[in-house]
Amino acid sequence: MNLDSVKWKQDYSTGNESVDFQHQHFAALINRISTNLLAPMDTGHTKKLLDELGKYARFHFTSEENIAFELGLKGLGMHHDRHIEMLEELDMHIDDLFSGIYATKDFINFLSNWFIGHTIYEDIKLFEDRL
Ligand SMILES: [Fe+2]
Ligand SMILES: [Fe+2]
Repeated sequence: MNLDSVKWKQDYSTGNESVDFQHQHFAALINRISTNLLAPMDTGHTKKLLDELGKYARFHFTSEENIAFELGLKGLGMHHDRHIEMLEELDMHIDDLFSGIYATKDFINFLSNWFIGHTIYEDIKLFEDRL
């Protein structure tokens, strides 16, 4: 995948309305961050947007796990572990961006792959039980 923006597709649907709604907001936030990073940089605002992303990711992962629990879906323990790993990955990549290790374009590609990869391969699998 080599994307500057995350385009929501019906193929990404988990079949759960709340989760899909949150995923669409998640994608829109990643696109705002990409736009901000590609424009002349306002570091203060970029930091606040990335702070919003970290907080939204934490909210979304918790909410998704609660929905999956209430639906009695299988594999929730492993999915929770994966969310923890993803938050560590995100925090590490944000640190690398600000320390100059990471090129902006590569960071944007990371964000797209990080979000879409999990949604397509792992969230859809988790919610397959429900379809
Ligand atoms: Fe998700
Ligand atoms: Fe997930």
